[in-house]
Amino acid sequence: MTDGVNRQFLLAARPEGLIKVSDFTYNEAEIPTPGEGEVLVRNMVVGVEPALRGQMEGLTNYTTGLQLGEVMRAGGAGQVIASNNPNFQVGDMVQGMFGFQDYACIGGEGMMPLAKIPEGTPLEAALYVFGGTGFTAYYGMTEIGLPKAGDAVLVSGAAGAVGSLAGQIARIKGATNVVGIAGSEEKCKWLVEEMGFTGAINYKTDDIDARVKELMPNGCDIFFDNVGGEILDIALDNLAMNARVVICGGISRYEDREGAAGPKNYFSLVYKRARMEGFIIIDNMHRAAEFTEVLAGWINDGSLKYKVDVLEGFENLPQGLINLFTGGNIGKQLIRINDPA
Ligand SMILES: NC(=O)c1ccc[n+]([C@@H]2O[C@H](COP(=O)([O-])OP(=O)(O)OC[C@H]3O[C@@H](n4cnc5c(N)ncnc54)[C@H](OP(=O)(O)O)[C@@H]3O)[C@@H](O)[C@H]2O)c1
Repeated sequence: MTDGVNRQFLLAARPEGLIKVSDFTYNEAEIPTPGEGEVLVRNMVVGVEPALRGQMEGLTNYTTGLQLGEVMRAGGAGQVIASNNPNFQVGDMVQGMFGFQDYACIGGEGMMPLAKIPEGTPLEAALYVFGGTGFTAYYGMTEIGLPKAGDAVLVSGAAGAVGSLAGQIARIKGATNVVGIAGSEEKCKWLVEEMGFTGAINYKTDDIDARVKELMPNGCDIFFDNVGGEILDIALDNLAMNARVVICGGISRYEDREGAAGPKNYFSLVYKRARMEGFIIIDNMHRAAEFTEVLAGWINDGSLKYKVDVLEGFENLPQGLINLFTGGNIGKQLIRINDPA
C-alpha cells in the first residue's frame, strides 16, 4: 500500500473483444472521509466475476452500468478503519462492493450491503463460498436444479468458482454421475481427482457431444450452465426426461452479445418435458445467513471443497478479471492487494 494515497483503477474504455489492461487507467486519489452512516474500509482482497464485463460496457440489466472514469466495480474484503455507522466498529472485518481501490467509503444499505465477516472466517472464503459466488452455486443447483438421488448432472464452466461448487453440491444431494466441462486437461484432472466429479470433458479438444453421450448414456437430469452457446445446444440435445436446465451464466456470449445465437435445440424441452430457468442471486441475498449455515456445515464435515486462485499485488487487478475470459483461473479468482495492518 502507498501511505496516504488511495490507489485506484478507473474504467478508461468500453471493452471491445477481450478485456484489455488498457481498458483501465491507474489513478491515485486522496483517502476518502466517511460521510454520515458510512464506514471507511481498507480493501485487502478483491474478487472478480464475469458479469463485471457487462457493467464495463455500461449495460443496465440487473444492476447499473459503469460510467467511464468511475472506479472499477468489484467485491472485496477488508477492515473498517473509521466508522460513522453504529453497526460497524473500527477493526471489524467486512465485505462489500469496494471496487478496484485501496480504500472505500460505504454505507450499510444497498443492493449488495456491507456485511461483517465472522471471526475466524478467512477473507478468501468470505469472498467465495460464503459470498455471492457460493450462494449462486447453492441456490442454482438446489432450488432450480432440484438434484435427487441417482441423478446425472452436467456442469459447464465446471472448473471455475461457481461450477466447481455446483457439481459438488449435486453430489452431496445424491447425484451419482456428475460430469464437468472445462477448458484444459489440468482442469479436467482436477475436477475428477480433487473435486469428486465422476467425469470431465475438455471442450477445447474433445468431441463434446460424443463425450456427453458416452458419459451420460441416459442423458442428463440437470444441466447447470455457466457458458451458453454451443455447449448449451449440445446439452439440450442430451436431456433426460423431466430434465432441469439451470441458466446461471453464459460467458461464451459476453464478448459478442449481438452476434450470439439462441439455442437451436430448445425444442428438446418439449419432447423431454423439461424446464429451463434463469436466476440472479442478488434476489436471494437476504437468505445469506441460511445459505452460509448449510455451506459451512458441508465445509466443516469435509464434503465440500473450495479452491481460491490468488494473484498477488494491486497491479494485477485488471489481469485477474481478464483471466476469467481466457480460462486463466481454477476455482475463484481473487487478487490480494493489501496485507493486514
Ligand atoms: N446468475 C447469477 O446470479 C450468477 C452469479 C455469479 C456468477 N454467474 C455466472 O456464472 C458463471 C461463472 O462465474 P464464475 O464467477 O464462477 O467464473 P469462473 O467460472 O470462475 O471463470 C470463468 C470461466 O469460464 C470459462 N470460460 C471463459 N470463456 C469461455 C468460453 N468462451 N467458453 C467456455 N468457457 C469459457 C473459463 O474456464 P475454461 O478454462 O473452462 O474455459 C473461466 O475460468 C459466469 O457466466 C457468471 O456470469 C451468475
